[in-house]
Amino acid sequence: MQKMKLVTGGLVAMTVLALQSVSSSIAADDKQYFNIANGELARPTGYREWIYVGTPVTPNDMNDGKAAFPEFHNVYIDPASWAHWKDTGKFRDGTILIKELVSVGAKSATSGNGYFEGDFLGLEATIKSAEHFPDEPGNWAYYSFSTPDHKSLTSSAKAFPAESCNACHQASAADDFVFTQYYPVLRAGKGTGMDAIGGVKSELP
Ligand code: HEC
Repeated sequence: MQKMKLVTGGLVAMTVLALQSVSSSIAADDKQYFNIANGELARPTGYREWIYVGTPVTPNDMNDGKAAFPEFHNVYIDPASWAHWKDTGKFRDGTILIKELVSVGAKSATSGNGYFEGDFLGLEATIKSAEHFPDEPGNWAYYSFSTPDHKSLTSSAKAFPAESCNACHQASAADDFVFTQYYPVLRAGKGTGMDAIGGVKSELP
């Protein structure tokens, strides 16, 4: 009888644990990493602790001294949307991607000549949300917190009109308005489950 109770107790505990883990993954999926109020996006925080996906670089000195988005672009995706991407290969409603601009600092190192990251220069974001952007193509909207002199950030931003940003993303980005062709982490992680985390497979794609 004593033994029976222990077994039943164990089963109940296991069921509770299983239910808890289901509800925590649902909660993670629902979590929003941004705050839009009165038509403005508050500057997101914490993104350097999200999932890093890649760093395109459009150096000013290869773009007549003035690239549209100067220098390095470190791109991050929020953790709940990464989990969804890894499982389904899709950007969930509520995805936010951050593009943090960084200057070219040094152009040589002991490893050779090249472009090496310098200082932070600006911050851009894109969000997919049917609730907030029912009329935007793909439900994506685009924001910038960069100031013209690239010395500070605004505390909030209004979405750009679709023709300023959205149209180019729609026409040229590889996957649902996102330039995954330049983000190796997203390419390798698209719907690949645990293979997405890195270090699991021996072959390099
Ligand atoms: C002429 C095409 C073009 C326009 C216009 C454009 N982008 Fe992009 N955007 C790109 C390309 C190409 C990338 C990826 C490579 C890079 O960052 O240089 C990118 C990447 C991004 C990313 C990273 C996530 C992603 O979707 O790949 C954000 C955020 C972003 N752009 C914001 C903006 C904002 C804000 C505007 C409008 C002010 C804008 N973009 C206008 C071409 C464009």
